[in-house]
Amino acid sequence: TMSIREVKVCLLGESGVGKSSIVMRFVTDSFKPALESTIGASFMSKKIAVDDQHYAFQIWDTAGQEKYRSLAPMYYRGAAAAIVVYDVSRDSTFKTVKDWINELKKNASHNIILAIAGNKCDLEDLREVSKRDAEEYASLINAIFIETSALNAVNVPELFMKIARSLPKE
Ligand code: GTP
Ligand code: MG
Repeated sequence: TMSIREVKVCLLGESGVGKSSIVMRFVTDSFKPALESTIGASFMSKKIAVDDQHYAFQIWDTAGQEKYRSLAPMYYRGAAAAIVVYDVSRDSTFKTVKDWINELKKNASHNIILAIAGNKCDLEDLREVSKRDAEEYASLINAIFIETSALNAVNVPELFMKIARSLPKE
């Protein structure tokens, strides 16, 4: 029998970037075009196997609206990984990524795994954030980087698999 490794992760990022849609794609492999904006935070869990190890992801999907910002520490404290999401078609959401990263560097656990996800990569015609710039920033701060589309089911399990592979060996 194989043990299951529990991994607490939280998603952060501006309202509307697609945090809940990424979680929904990962957990139920579905997409809802008119998802309600998250209130407070929502919790979901999902088990996957990566490289012969089982993982139980405990996912806290936070609310991006400004009025909920002060709740975020409750979710990123004690998290093994933080996924900061932006929308590749809105440059302002990439600026917010940097604010979150700075806050995490200051207040989160020192060994937290940082992941940056550029969501809505299906919107190539509307792109405002280049993959190269985002990749460069992520490598500078030692973060995992991936572009995703919750809508088209691109790279969503891969995001979580990358996190699993970055966890310290037990
Ligand atoms: P808050 O809960 O307010 O923080 O927002 P959120 O980050 O959870 O965003 P949510 O998942 O609710 O998605 C916001 C909008 O973006 C919805 O209308 C989604 O349908 C849309 N959306 C999410 N992911 C994608 C994607 O990959 N591509 C496209 N084109 N639209 C997406
Ligand atoms: Mg949401």
